[in-house]
Amino acid sequence: MGILSRSVLRGVAVGIVTQSVLAGPYSIAQTNIGSDFFNNFQWENISDPTNGRVEYVTQATAQAENLTYATSDTFVLRADSTTTLSADGPGRKSNRIKSNAQYNTHVTVFDILHMPQGCGTWPALWEADDSVGTSAGEIDILEGVDDIAPNSVTLHTSGNCTMPSNRTMLGTSLSDDCSSSADIGNGNNGCSVDAPYTSSYGPVFNSNGGGYYALERTSEYIRVWFWARNQDGIPSDISGGASSIDTDDWGTPIADFPDDDCAINEVFGNNNIIVDLTFCGGWAGDDFSGAGCGSNCTQYVNENPSAFENAYWEFAAVRVYSPSSSSNTSATTNAALSANVRASSSTLSASLGYMMDIFTSPTLIALAVVGGAWGLA
Ligand SMILES: *[C@@H]1O[C@H](CO)[C@@H](O)[C@H](O)[C@H]1NC(C)=O
Ligand SMILES: *[C@@H]1O[C@H](CO)[C@@H](O)[C@H](O)[C@H]1NC(C)=O
Ligand SMILES: *[C@@H]1O[C@H](CO)[C@@H](O)[C@H](O)[C@H]1NC(C)=O
Ligand SMILES: *[C@@H]1O[C@H](CO)[C@@H](O)[C@H](O)[C@H]1NC(C)=O
Ligand SMILES: *[C@@H]1O[C@H](CO)[C@@H](O)[C@H](O)[C@H]1NC(C)=O
Ligand SMILES: *[C@@H]1O[C@H](CO)[C@@H](O)[C@H](O)[C@H]1NC(C)=O
Repeated sequence: MGILSRSVLRGVAVGIVTQSVLAGPYSIAQTNIGSDFFNNFQWENISDPTNGRVEYVTQATAQAENLTYATSDTFVLRADSTTTLSADGPGRKSNRIKSNAQYNTHVTVFDILHMPQGCGTWPALWEADDSVGTSAGEIDILEGVDDIAPNSVTLHTSGNCTMPSNRTMLGTSLSDDCSSSADIGNGNNGCSVDAPYTSSYGPVFNSNGGGYYALERTSEYIRVWFWARNQDGIPSDISGGASSIDTDDWGTPIADFPDDDCAINEVFGNNNIIVDLTFCGGWAGDDFSGAGCGSNCTQYVNENPSAFENAYWEFAAVRVYSPSSSSNTSATTNAALSANVRASSSTLSASLGYMMDIFTSPTLIALAVVGGAWGLA
């Protein structure tokens, strides 16, 4: 895949029609630190689509029971680790949150201090529109079960989408077919790439103080990077939480999903950022005994509350960046610009297509106009 040169970016800026092979510089669009998460995310107290042994609570319940809290520099989501559950009652209390805003082409950098660990756990950090199954695509950035490392990065799509066998990435492909049926999470394998480091997941991730996951989504590819917090060579824009970042400087990703045989623009739509923690269900339940956790996941979750003391997410920050080529980040301007582009010629749309990708959702435009979700600088 081609990497955007600075000259291509300048070409877009002056309106020259050019192929939209874009990457490289991005500017901060939203910063989530501490209590920002309470404003920018909603708690989904839904019944778990993966049939886990979980009760997803409301934000009010989570705060009242201290299953979520924020300090000036951390944000925590954790499971109930004190209640013994009755076998015929609801599951273990936990959080499932999703961003109010939706994102299209963008970069998200997750600065994670701790991820949930423990037998029976199934944590996930992902981007999707969970109200439409996989029809807007799904990107599982950090997900696994029962403390089994490494992390697998996985795409799920409703439309046809396959990956070339030969990709420039550090990880190992488990499957090159991303297509799956339309229900999220129910045993669809998708196209998974195993990270090359055990530090990418679970107990080893936590013992290193966590690390950074970064997702870049363009109209032409999806890439995910990972750096353990204690490793050498973390890009300074990542470790410093910079307001401007350049993915060209980040080296080879752990997972690369190019558009050779996958119309990324068509099979991926506007996605929310979602963070959850469920227990057992299809995946964590099936792998429970193989992971040396015992014979009955549900019973274990019911009867061993203290086993979930480390079943928590702790984030230092989640930062969302938009392409610097859409340097025009004023909310009203973007709404107007989007309307203009919709009414304009296809040639103009083609040249501006990349910057418009971010703002084509009516929902997102509405959020931007009320001045909220994109935290426009
Ligand atoms: C979500 O919370 C509301 C309000 O507390 C409650 O009425 C509803 O039953 C909850 N839904 C689920 C699936 O827990
Ligand atoms: C919530 O839990 C944290 C971590 O255990 C603790 O520091 C904090 O004081 C608790 N907050 C409340 C209101 O209990
Ligand atoms: C998906 O691939 C199958 C098998 O190649 C093909 O029959 C079908 O038409 C494709 N669907 C779309 C929407 O392209
Ligand atoms: C994989 O791609 C690289 C870079 O494009 C190329 O040099 C190499 O020959 C390819 N390997 C195979 C087995 O196709
Ligand atoms: C596992 O434990 C649960 C809760 O005690 C019980 O309902 C279920 O029947 C058990 N499953 C098996 C296969 O024994
Ligand atoms: C941003 O949009 C406004 C209004 O459309 C326009 O006047 C201005 O030139 C734009 N700025 C850039 C950097 O494109």
